[in-house]
Amino acid sequence: MKDWKRYTITAALPYANGPKHIGHLAGAYLPADIYVRYLRLNKREVVFVCGSDEHGTAITFQALQEHTTPRAIIDKYHLLIKNSFEQLGISFDIYHRTSEPLHHETAQEFFLDFYNKGLFKEVTSEQYYDEEKKVFLADRYIQGTCPNCGYEKAYGDQCEKCGKALSPSELINPRSTLSGAKPVMRATKHWYLPLNEYEPWLRKWLLRDHAKDWRSNVYGQCKSWIEGGLQPRAMTRDGEWGIKVPVKDAEGKVLYVWFDAPIGYISATKQWAIENNKRWELYWKDSDTRLIHFVGKDNIVFHCIIFPVMLHMHGDYIVPDNVPANEFLNLEGDKMSTSRKWSVEMHEYLEDFPGKADELRYVLCSIAPETKDSEFTWKDFQTRVNSELVGIFGNLVNRVLILTEKYFDNQVPPSGECSELKTFVESQRNKISEAIEHFHFREALSEMMNVARHGNQLLSEKEPWKTIKTDKEYTATTLYDCLQIIANLGILCEPFLPYTSRKIFAMLNLDPTHFSWSDVGRQDLLKPGHILGKAALLYQKIEDEQVETQISKLKKVAAEHHKADDASAKQPASAQKVEMENPKPEIAYDDFSKLDLRIGTILTAEKVEKADKLLKLSVDVGFETRTIVSGIAEYFKPEELIGLQVSVVVNLAPRKIRGIESKGMILLAENEDGKLHFVNSQQLTKNGSAIR
Ligand code: 2FM
Ligand code: ZN
Repeated sequence: MKDWKRYTITAALPYANGPKHIGHLAGAYLPADIYVRYLRLNKREVVFVCGSDEHGTAITFQALQEHTTPRAIIDKYHLLIKNSFEQLGISFDIYHRTSEPLHHETAQEFFLDFYNKGLFKEVTSEQYYDEEKKVFLADRYIQGTCPNCGYEKAYGDQCEKCGKALSPSELINPRSTLSGAKPVMRATKHWYLPLNEYEPWLRKWLLRDHAKDWRSNVYGQCKSWIEGGLQPRAMTRDGEWGIKVPVKDAEGKVLYVWFDAPIGYISATKQWAIENNKRWELYWKDSDTRLIHFVGKDNIVFHCIIFPVMLHMHGDYIVPDNVPANEFLNLEGDKMSTSRKWSVEMHEYLEDFPGKADELRYVLCSIAPETKDSEFTWKDFQTRVNSELVGIFGNLVNRVLILTEKYFDNQVPPSGECSELKTFVESQRNKISEAIEHFHFREALSEMMNVARHGNQLLSEKEPWKTIKTDKEYTATTLYDCLQIIANLGILCEPFLPYTSRKIFAMLNLDPTHFSWSDVGRQDLLKPGHILGKAALLYQKIEDEQVETQISKLKKVAAEHHKADDASAKQPASAQKVEMENPKPEIAYDDFSKLDLRIGTILTAEKVEKADKLLKLSVDVGFETRTIVSGIAEYFKPEELIGLQVSVVVNLAPRKIRGIESKGMILLAENEDGKLHFVNSQQLTKNGSAIR
């Protein structure tokens, strides 16, 4: 293997439009962090960059859904995600933002470089346009039926049901999500990256040179892209939110988010270099620098084909030496998804399990989807923490420290070095190094745990609690050896379990900065007579109730989400949610005037038997008293409602709900926090008054 001078390690810039879940963590950030921590322990020069991806239609789209601005969204989530990463011990050297001016300049410089060299293809094409809203529609703004699975709400870039990447023209019955109108085709000019012209280069660099060292899933995906024939790809978009295209004749156009986002790694490095007095070019332009991109499998093509082509086109840049992309992590038998609420968000985990970052790191690394999709279940989380971290690792450390305190006054006992142990630990170190260097983090972690297992075995075999009665010297040797194992583990576990490592060093009263990876194996990390620190438990058991709480929380949230998503559910809160996500098509005045909306007063309210959510109300609507069944029992007590004036749709066809005929519907608005409020008149109004 080449002897690299320095390393530039990138982890996919998360879109700052929502919290990130543990699948993201397992996919890119945790493996990247393990690798970087390993490099640092080996005294390698390394920069580890990440940050928020703040452009793209997903963010504008969300702003629209939430009636806010892209800026408000990115500011909120940038901080939330950054803090979560920090607490999980992901040790970025910088967590930058693509909304920073430095990034805009850097991305524009790339664009201009290609533009000035005449490398772009300028293409005028027909794209979907919303005539009512007078805008070109980004792929996300078009919905229609997925040609692959028939899902009716597939987006123009991807079907969220079956995961197929789509282009808007493939959708059956496309409609604009902005107005509901059928979009029309209109001409617009864009700048295209001629990927097809770089096919020979890709074949050589990727298919030939990296046939052996890249993961087969990554290589296979790239190969099928290249073999399938590369097409020029537009690097600009019509829109407002993003980096302005820095040339004349490009009014109302921004850089494609996948053009600017990976350049974000470069701008992040520039910012880090400014803050740390380094030369950023060395990290991007020196052939002795090893560039590695850690990403999830949905990002492979961008990091293995498009971005490398861009770096190559620019000419001065190095290209990635590896892209060890992971597959997906499923959750309790289903695909993880924030939008479907089937996920464990990083910040939620941290709130529910404070101080347990290493426990999550451990489990996620043990089940990392390195070669195929894998599965996180709370039960498995509990088992791994309890039987492995508590039962093996924590147990060893605790037993040895307690025994040393008891028999040797908390001092490292005197002893000769055990050469057998040295050989074993060194060989483990080499296995772990080898595994990490080849991005086999699961294997590396399991070899690290074998060192702890070995310590426990030694303890069980030698039984110092028995030998202390007959042979103090023998007992001293046992505990000395075990203490050296623990000190070695303090170094070995650091890439995987940084908080544990810190605790071990504190308990051993050692300064971690005095040790590096090459010290692993040494049997004199702790000198005889050295006074140890205070013993404390490394881990605590995860209780059954904690697991049950998580499972029921997950199921409850997902069930509520499904309910809200079910357009046929006529519960007012659900109806409201559906509208927020998807503004309904415009209607004519005549349609509106068909509604008979009146002011009414609630006269009685009672619970409906065996229905937690329903209240049966009688409402005076002026010309008569109506029975209305409403799904509001979770939000209001019956007695609170008596005498309240409300707005009622009085000409809705009657429906039987739980055997009760309900005539009409009461209007409610749902707040951001999920609370319901009645839509009512400011002043007391005569019952039966029409609402216009
Ligand atoms: O998939 C995503 O979350 C993208 N925001 C990843 C971007 S990676 C890089 F190119 F910045
Ligand atoms: Zn589909």
